[in-house]
Amino acid sequence: MRWLFILLIPAFVWRAADAPLNPEQDRMTLQQAAPFPIGVAVDVKLLMTDSAYRHTVNQEFSSLTSENALKMNRLLVAPNQYNWTGGDALVDFARQTNKRMHGHTLVWHVAVPNWVQTFQGDSLAWENLLKSHIQTVIRHYKGRVKSWDVVNEAFEADGSLRKTIWLEHLGSDYVARCYQYAHEADPDVLLFYNDFSLDIKPLKAAAVKAMVMEFKRRGIPINGIGLQAHISIYNSDSKFRDCLDDMASTGLQIHISELDIRLNAKKIKDFIVSDVLLQQQQQKYAAIVRAYKSAVPKKQQYGITIWSVGDNDSYLVNDCKCPDAPLLFDTGYKKKLAYKGLMGALRQ
Ligand code: XIL
Repeated sequence: MRWLFILLIPAFVWRAADAPLNPEQDRMTLQQAAPFPIGVAVDVKLLMTDSAYRHTVNQEFSSLTSENALKMNRLLVAPNQYNWTGGDALVDFARQTNKRMHGHTLVWHVAVPNWVQTFQGDSLAWENLLKSHIQTVIRHYKGRVKSWDVVNEAFEADGSLRKTIWLEHLGSDYVARCYQYAHEADPDVLLFYNDFSLDIKPLKAAAVKAMVMEFKRRGIPINGIGLQAHISIYNSDSKFRDCLDDMASTGLQIHISELDIRLNAKKIKDFIVSDVLLQQQQQKYAAIVRAYKSAVPKKQQYGITIWSVGDNDSYLVNDCKCPDAPLLFDTGYKKKLAYKGLMGALRQ
């Protein structure tokens, strides 16, 4: 009997190390595990054509952000002429699958249609153009899109207003008016300000916070702040946490709105994605969730949105043309260690 016991021990230890600790946990999806909405940026073409992509989106996430489909350059194709095809397809999908829809973004200097870039008109004509865009889009999606990134990336790293076409033609108070126009079009929709690198650019973070506080004083409607969080495995956890804490002190909803974690921070062309780096990424995804849970009060947790599904879909990889693997799923939509890191911290 004793011999049998001794013989069985190694087999038991081997099985325990290999098998999932808890099969229930293994079957759980991110949206089931998360105590707040967990979102993903969606590309409409992939959603419509790739069933593995669509399955992953549907299975794992409870909130969707339009990666590009609701940007001005996609919608406002010519003066007063809108192309709603892509946006409607995504918003319909969100509705059918019962997901929260976050609209991104109404005012962004990068997504300006060519015809607007060469638009000729006085400041009133420019004002009307932007006002009409904001209100037309918000009204079109009224009741179907829960929240909007109204203005995206309006500040420079030094905290000054970015020198965009909108600042040039509309003047320094244009951001506030964008929020007023949005609220006029749908008083129920939640309005976010969205920007990047707030954790590592203190002057920019201070400017965003000052703007929000000023809006509150003046009664300008604003409901939330989006921290994009296109970070790398080398970003500081404590700085990120402090930034969340600082932004949450405004009392607004806090959305980690575009999370991805690069391994190849220096954009090296012949970079090798190693297991060690993927493990560091796993830790970093977990650290971001822990920071969010501890720094942002529950009632202000709007959620965490990942900026794309599989590594191949990431705009970072496509833009850089250098090897990287910033997301939760690999190029075949298999779960990476990053997924495990996020899942573990969500469940903690
Ligand atoms: C990016 C998309 O992911 C790309 O597909 C597109 O070519 C350019 O825009 N900050 C933002 C997002 O607010 O809108 C950007 O999305 C990524 C950086």
